[in-house]
Amino acid sequence: MTIRVTGTGSALPEKKVTNFDLEKLVETSDEWIQKRTGIAERRVSGGETVSSLAAEACKKALELAGKNAEEVDLIVVATCSPEFLLPCCACQVQDLIGASRAAAFDLNAACSGFLFALDTVYAYLHSGIYQNALIVGSEVLSKLVDWKDRGTCILFGDGAGAAFVEASAEDIVRDNGRKAGIECMLQGSDGAKGMVLSCEERAVNNAFMPKQPTENPYVRMDGQEVYKFATKQVPACIQETLGKAGMIVNDVDWFILHQANVRIIESVAKRLKADIAKFPMNIHQVGNMSSATIPVLLDECNRAGRIKEGDRLVLSGFGAGLTYGASVLVW
Ligand code: COA
Repeated sequence: MTIRVTGTGSALPEKKVTNFDLEKLVETSDEWIQKRTGIAERRVSGGETVSSLAAEACKKALELAGKNAEEVDLIVVATCSPEFLLPCCACQVQDLIGASRAAAFDLNAACSGFLFALDTVYAYLHSGIYQNALIVGSEVLSKLVDWKDRGTCILFGDGAGAAFVEASAEDIVRDNGRKAGIECMLQGSDGAKGMVLSCEERAVNNAFMPKQPTENPYVRMDGQEVYKFATKQVPACIQETLGKAGMIVNDVDWFILHQANVRIIESVAKRLKADIAKFPMNIHQVGNMSSATIPVLLDECNRAGRIKEGDRLVLSGFGAGLTYGASVLVW
């Protein structure tokens, strides 16, 4: 059996916000932001929503996979910034793309969400419950960010990325002898560190318990703690995942990492003793789009022809929760 990605797609809001634009909002500078994060600009919603971006990304992924929306069995949207609590974003996407046969639900593992969705879908497909699925990471973080907090507002951007994943009964062997498809994966969470990156939803509020004033409805972050977690946990997770499958770092052609900070990516490459040229990056133009970063980068690399059939990829990231994960697959 082969479970592999057969189509990718992405969608970004039209509006670009540069570091120079942010200099007008908070006490910061293009130089500081570029040096500490690698980010020069990001996209910010001018009306695009989590579901509209997700639907656009899904349509492109289906087109590349050569599938119609009616053929989709399952839609899983990873998001931590939906416009609605009810209905879930995946049901809105189902309606927008016309995937009337699909089951649809959302999943929230913050920036690791796409990886958690991929693993969830793998389990569904491997068990035979479904034959295919659309997975999406979509975020409009600009509505959760405090535009007066220079510690966070410089980091995030809006966007969506999707992948169409299919199961086939037969093995698909590439020219280099590698079997295509998802090879192994690992997910992890450390809830005890949850409050280092948080954003409150509604507080308890009912007829018997008066509403408590919410202190801060925006993203709050201890940047240094998150940084420490990421630079330690991501390489450890990648090593463990590869080890599970009897592989080593040199067996990997591309590391598609969560785009949170260039310095984090460089540190992961160094700890793994891997060539930094194997770590494609787009953080410069789009910032950290949480669950959307990995699928957007995957789509960019796929459409640019950078990833070739038979290449082995590691997708890995971390995020609020705190959560982390890695998936190894052959294209
Ligand atoms: N512009 C200018 N100065 C800034 C600034 C900004 N946007 N943000 C913070 N500073 C200042 C701080 O106030 C501090 O000043 P001080 O030395 O006078 O106290 C100084 O810069 C250093 O701040 P610090 O927080 O130590 O910077 P840093 O090197 O840790 O970089 C982050 C901050 C947020 C870029 C970095 O910690 C990071 O990327 N962390 C991970 C965050 C992340 O990935 N989050 C998403 C997870 S999915």
